[in-house]
Amino acid sequence: MRVAALAGEIDFGGWRKAARAFRQAGVTPEQAAFRVGADGDGLFDESLPPSAPGAPSFSVPKAFVDLAQEVILHRSADRFDLLYRLLWRLAAEPDLMHVVTDPDVADAVERAKNVSRASHKMKAFVRFRQMEDVAGECWVAWFEPVHRVVEKTAPFFVRRFASLRWSILTSDGSASWDGEKLTFGPSATRDMAPAEDEIEEFWKTYYASTFNPARLKTRAMQGEMPRRYWKNLPEAALIPELVAQSAVRTEAMVAASAPEPNARLAKTLSRLNRDHAFDEGFVPSTLSELDQAVQACRRCPLWRDATQGVCGEGPKRAKLMIVGEQPGDQEDLAGHPFVGPAGRVLDAALDEVGIDREDVFVTNAVKHFKHEPRGKRRLHKTPSAGEVSACRWWLDAERRLVKPKVIVTLGATAAFGVLARKVAVTKERGRGIDLTDGAKALLTVHPSYLLRIPDAAAKAAERDRFVADLEQAKVLL
Ligand code: URA
Repeated sequence: MRVAALAGEIDFGGWRKAARAFRQAGVTPEQAAFRVGADGDGLFDESLPPSAPGAPSFSVPKAFVDLAQEVILHRSADRFDLLYRLLWRLAAEPDLMHVVTDPDVADAVERAKNVSRASHKMKAFVRFRQMEDVAGECWVAWFEPVHRVVEKTAPFFVRRFASLRWSILTSDGSASWDGEKLTFGPSATRDMAPAEDEIEEFWKTYYASTFNPARLKTRAMQGEMPRRYWKNLPEAALIPELVAQSAVRTEAMVAASAPEPNARLAKTLSRLNRDHAFDEGFVPSTLSELDQAVQACRRCPLWRDATQGVCGEGPKRAKLMIVGEQPGDQEDLAGHPFVGPAGRVLDAALDEVGIDREDVFVTNAVKHFKHEPRGKRRLHKTPSAGEVSACRWWLDAERRLVKPKVIVTLGATAAFGVLARKVAVTKERGRGIDLTDGAKALLTVHPSYLLRIPDAAAKAAERDRFVADLEQAKVLL
């Protein structure tokens, strides 16, 4: 057995160097082992094993390197071995990464998906608490990620909270942003983060007021917000009681009147999310710049009542872009597109067609949630043509950066956002329409339309047509 010592659990550089040396020296997967922090048998660093005489140098497909960088963040102990097995096999099977049914490839892809999911959950469930240190106000969060995604996910928080000083502490390590520089530090313990702060009660009030008992679906809710995250979410303490009271509150809600907005919460949220100056002439050259710039957007008044701007998400070179109308209530709170009920309908349909949502850039024609208060609820309002036209600036920027081949529009607002003309979706749906940038648009209905059809047979038939439209998009790809 040849043992390579790695500097840390996510030491991709160290693994890569050792794995290369192993492969060139003819060390088989059965003979190779990787240990974190352990003393190897001298194979690591200066005394890596010598190459077998005449061993050719080799390169590996980029798809493997990209996948390996994700898989290494998985918490499973055997991930290094799986990756080395793949690397070893690539010598004799150069197309291996395309064989999605191969057990090793499928296993690695699944682990990468788990890592990506853990990163998404971290974006949604980190809760900062306010503290004072010698330099003044700062925000600290304790988080327990399922996989080792702190370093991968920290840049998201830099973009979102660029003007604040913050730290995220986890048992894997910590990430800190001082307003200029992101640094990573050692692991932490829960007691190093503050347990409560001044705005905690406001988060709870806010959550309780946006919690809609009439739409309560406990299983779906747990799917989005798994129980393992609850202990670090201030608002989660309210869930059992809100669920227990949902029937009574549904009745009371009907008669309730619109509450006064919570001024202190609004102030805190506006500091968190909108502490940037709007520069109309700024043209983002990356998706993260775009995301940050949208937070400061003043092209129309919708930013005023929204929690945050919700930009598109997905691979930066996705071939398929899906455009919805605008973020809904849940998307506005989570900061991600299509994570609520319409998103679940979309996900299920994509699944059925065999399109992986992770491969799709999912966005909206309008980036802020337009709504009006009704009792304690925030009711969706359709954006006006003027608002969609104002927000087309951002959609066009996303299109320029991602350069999708096919753009599927969900509903009339999305079609107007992409085509910049009034459209009858029912007449033009399901076929490719040439766009000036060389992409093709394919129009279909919005998934929330499917949710609203009362008759079961009509609903099933409409859903089939929706799935058929997505299949058509796949053909166009
Ligand atoms: N509906 C949309 O159009 N977009 C979302 O992101 C969510 C619901």
